[in-house]
Amino acid sequence: MIKEDFFKNKIGVIGAGNIGRSVILKLLEKGYPYDNIQLSYNGSIFTFSALFDDNLVDMISDNSRLVKDSSIILLSVPPQSFEKIGDFGLDKDTLVISFMAGISIDKIKKQTNSENVVRVIPTGPDTIKNSCAIAGTYPGNDVADFLFDLLDFDYYVIDNEDKMDYMVIAGCLPAVYCRVDPHSNESIRDIQRFAGDFDEFIEISKKAEKLVPTDNIDEFVKQVSTPGGVTEAIISSLDQGNSLYDSLMTGIKRNNELS
Ligand SMILES: NC(=O)c1ccc[n+]([C@@H]2O[C@H](COP(=O)([O-])OP(=O)(O)OC[C@H]3O[C@@H](n4cnc5c(N)ncnc54)[C@H](OP(=O)(O)O)[C@@H]3O)[C@@H](O)[C@H]2O)c1
Repeated sequence: MIKEDFFKNKIGVIGAGNIGRSVILKLLEKGYPYDNIQLSYNGSIFTFSALFDDNLVDMISDNSRLVKDSSIILLSVPPQSFEKIGDFGLDKDTLVISFMAGISIDKIKKQTNSENVVRVIPTGPDTIKNSCAIAGTYPGNDVADFLFDLLDFDYYVIDNEDKMDYMVIAGCLPAVYCRVDPHSNESIRDIQRFAGDFDEFIEISKKAEKLVPTDNIDEFVKQVSTPGGVTEAIISSLDQGNSLYDSLMTGIKRNNELS
């Protein structure tokens, strides 16, 4: 696919929070036409203010219009908010790319009516803005892959949706490594134990070490911790003094609760 053809797609971003906005800003930076992007949010005054600051106010739409107009839909609402959106009634071939942790492809297909659903779990919004996001995606899809390349994602196409759970945890590692030293013997042992049969996890963990910011660490952790989400669960377990392994398992548990 060539860029000019891809840029003709109307993209609708449902959930213009931290992830949604960072994706939109990166698309604009790459020359994506402003008029071909719509976004929605849930009415928060803080989100409106952020949209205003980022000059994205003219993209604001509502879910029903956005769903009707878009050929590619990006889902970046909190997992707990997805069901409340209701049925989308999409055409079967409308591409839906979900950034949500914990919500399975089957569930997204049922609610959207699309048969063309891809999941992606990137590291946090700052890494997207800084063109250094690591991501796991499932299944492979040419159009979605084109988008991930455009967004400068260093992405792994996962061969089994169950392994996306590990990617959810991998996406939390930059924040986790703000709290624990990844080079301690304990951490190395816990990461190897956690990796189990997903070898890439160790490589991704090494890459995640490089995404730990050097300043504004608390702000960074806050930004990547969706309220009620997986990162928040892991960080809170670490803060209670639990081991890295146990805290990552708490993250898996939270991810399953959200599914
Ligand atoms: N943050 C990360 O590092 C990270 C990494 C990987 C994956 N994810 C996934 O990405 C998703 C978004 O995370 P986030 O950190 O960007 O969360 P967030 O900052 O809380 O953003 C979520 C956005 O969804 C909007 N929203 C809620 N209900 C909606 C509805 N019915 N219609 C339209 N918009 C609605 C919210 O609107 P208001 O602003 O008005 O409340 C908010 O703008 C989550 O599913 C998370 O699992 C996050």
